[in-house]
Order: sequence, then C-alpha cells, then structure tokens
Amino acid sequence: MDLYEYQARDLFERYEVPVLPGIVADTPEEVRAAAEKLGGVVVVKAQVKVGGRGKAGGVKVAKTPDDAEAAARDILGLDIKGHTVKRVMVAGGARIAQEFYFSVLLDRANRSYLSLTSFEGGMEIEILAVERPDALARIEVNPIKGIDLETATAIARQANFPDDLVDKVAPVFVKLWNVYKGEDATLVEVNPLVLTEEGDIVALDGKVSLDENAGFRHPEHEALEDKDAADPLEAKAKANDLNYVKLDGEVGIIGNGAGLVMSTLDVVAYAGEKHGGVKPANFLDIGGGASAEVMANGLDVILGDAQVKSVFVNVFGGITACDAVANGIVAALGILGDSATKPLVVRLDGNKVDEGRKILEDAAHPLVTLALSMDEGADKAAELASK
Ligand SMILES: Nc1ncnc2c1ncn2[C@@H]1O[C@H](COP(=O)(O)OP(=O)(O)OP(=O)(O)O)[C@@H](O)[C@H]1O
Ligand SMILES: [Mg+2]
Repeated sequence: MDLYEYQARDLFERYEVPVLPGIVADTPEEVRAAAEKLGGVVVVKAQVKVGGRGKAGGVKVAKTPDDAEAAARDILGLDIKGHTVKRVMVAGGARIAQEFYFSVLLDRANRSYLSLTSFEGGMEIEILAVERPDALARIEVNPIKGIDLETATAIARQANFPDDLVDKVAPVFVKLWNVYKGEDATLVEVNPLVLTEEGDIVALDGKVSLDENAGFRHPEHEALEDKDAADPLEAKAKANDLNYVKLDGEVGIIGNGAGLVMSTLDVVAYAGEKHGGVKPANFLDIGGGASAEVMANGLDVILGDAQVKSVFVNVFGGITACDAVANGIVAALGILGDSATKPLVVRLDGNKVDEGRKILEDAAHPLVTLALSMDEGADKAAELASK
C-alpha cells in the first residue's frame, strides 16, 4: 500500500525524522486557514500517489494566506498523470541550501534491502541513475543489522557527503531505517532531503509503501487506506477475502488458484481474437475452498461489473471437489436470483468431475453452459461476450 505524502510525513514525525509542519486541506478556504496558522511562507502541495507533482504544477510556494488560497484553487482538481487532486498539504516553507536523495527499499532480485543515496539531489532519481550512476551510492543493507549509525556513516561517505554533513545526515538515515523496519515498509524514499540555510537536515518529501503481508502486525495501518479511491468492486472483493483485479475486457473470469486463473486469462485473450477482440474483464481467484458462499461472493463481484458480458468459471477440483464447486455455483445462482443476468460458461475438471457436471446438468440453469475443456470454455465465453 502506497501512502500519501502527508501520511508519510506523519510517520516520519513519529520516528523523529526531522520534518516541517504540515496541515491537510480539502478546500481553498481550509488552505487559507492552514497558511494563517502556520504563518510565513508556506508550500501548497498536491496529495496524489504519483511522482512529478512539482513539474505538473502541483507544488506551489505561497508568501501570504491570499497566495496560498489562490494556489489551492489552481491545484485542487488538477489532473496529475490521471490522478485528480482532491486534497493538498500546506507545509511550512523551507529555505533550501542543498537537496539530497535517500531511499531504502526491498531488493527482490537480491533477496535483500538496498539503500540508494545521493549527495546530488534536485534531479529525478531515475534520470540520475542512468546518466550519473556514480553519483548514486547503492548499498546493500543487512536485514538483521539494518542501518545503525556506523552503516549510516558509511552510506553518507560513499554517497560523497562532505565530512561536516556526514555527521548531520547519518542520524537521519538511521531514523528513516527505523521507519522502514518499524512499519514493515517496502519503500521509504525522501526526495528531497535538504540542508536548510539554517543548517538543518529536513525531509521535505516522503514516499512510503507498506507491506500488506505484514498488515496483521499493524492493525493501525488499515486507517491509512484510501477507501474512497479504491474501485468499489475491488473493495467488495477485498472485504470478502477474494483476490480480484479489474481489467478492461468483457469476459469475467473466476478460477481457483492463481496459476489456473492466469492461464485462463491467456486462453480467453487468445480465444477472444476470433470473436472481435474480446478480452478478460478481470482476474478473480476464489482460492482453494470454493464453497457456495465464496462462489456467490465471486459471482456477485463479477456480475457487478457493467463491462462484463459473459463469465467463464474455470475450476480444477482438488481438495474441494467438483461436486462441491457445482453445488456452490447452483447455490450461488440461487442466492443471486434475478441479479444474475449474464451467461456463465463452466468448465470443471479434477476430483469428482462427473458428479460435478451431473449436478449442473440436473440444475439446468438457463444461464449456465457446460464446457468440456478449457479451450472450449474460453471460446464459448468469448463468443457470448462478443454478441
Ligand atoms: N516545504 C517545502 N519548502 C520549500 N520547498 C519545497 C517544500 N516542499 C517541496 N519543495 C520544493 O519543491 C520540489 C518538489 O517537491 P516534492 O519533492 O515534494 O514534489 P514531487 O512531486 O516529489 O516533485 P518531483 O517528483 O518533481 O520531485 C522540491 O524538490 C523542493 O525544491
Ligand atoms: Mg519529491
């Protein structure tokens, strides 16, 4: 889960990373009030989960509350790379002497953590990495030891910080590591970390991604979730513990197991080429226990997507045998009643396949077509979707 800048700022503050005061605001009037409260120069910053806000006109310096209100009128509602700005943060204005870059992230390829640090900030890090690789210190972080003061000092030296600054930034690196470790993050990035005219090190921007797999250790993280922004169907699926991803085609897909669902996506996309280019509408994995309730929840999510024209249920019976799945489908259609309106192609295979098929044949639901193979099912579902 990616956090907004203001949420990252709040986390940083809790871990004693030096930050400037920040107040979130949703209207120009609130922005004016926040600017009055902070006093002096402020910076109005778009809160969207995408980089390059500055360049897109989403970060504006304001010398007076009037200016701040005017800046808010420009920024609120702005579209930044497809993200509409609904909220801004009014931050204290820093007098920047120098900008640096620091991040620590999960390095999946090396099964480790990596810190990226540069004494030369003010440039997009992706560009810096390509054009001036020497200016970016890449240092593996031992997951057990983490970034203690000694490691932080070594990082600062390797990133070419001069001696007097090494002693100032190293403790901040340690605190940022504490955020990373303490919150089970997969990314903590500060761009820019600055030296102010007053000689202080301050984190002026923060990007934090939290590892949802560690959510059970952090019940408080749930409050950070942006429920408004989430797709309502994705939210519904999540509430029912279903793995669901919305795509933009027409054939709804339900399968058990990520591998089977992924190959079903491929087979449907391939079959779709013969039927006017129809494509998968989603990825929905109902997992191992395909009970009637789980199946009903899955179908409910898929049928709620107006883009879906047909549904392909592709299940391989294992521990949960095909007869249980078939009973699940019949019961699900019963639960959904008139709200089930789209044709369903069902392919069952594996444990107790004959019993499963018999249950569906006997039920003879008008919306259900049985397919004998995955290819046949994909073709039928694509054909139905193209009509
Ligand atoms: N509180 C502040 N006081 C003074 N200047 C600031 C403040 N916050 C940001 N800035 C300036 O605005 C620039 C962009 O801000 P920030 O990094 O927060 O936005 P961004 O979306 O990450 O922009 P980019 O992606 O282009 O770096 C910073 O590099 C800094 O120079
Ligand atoms: Mg930035």
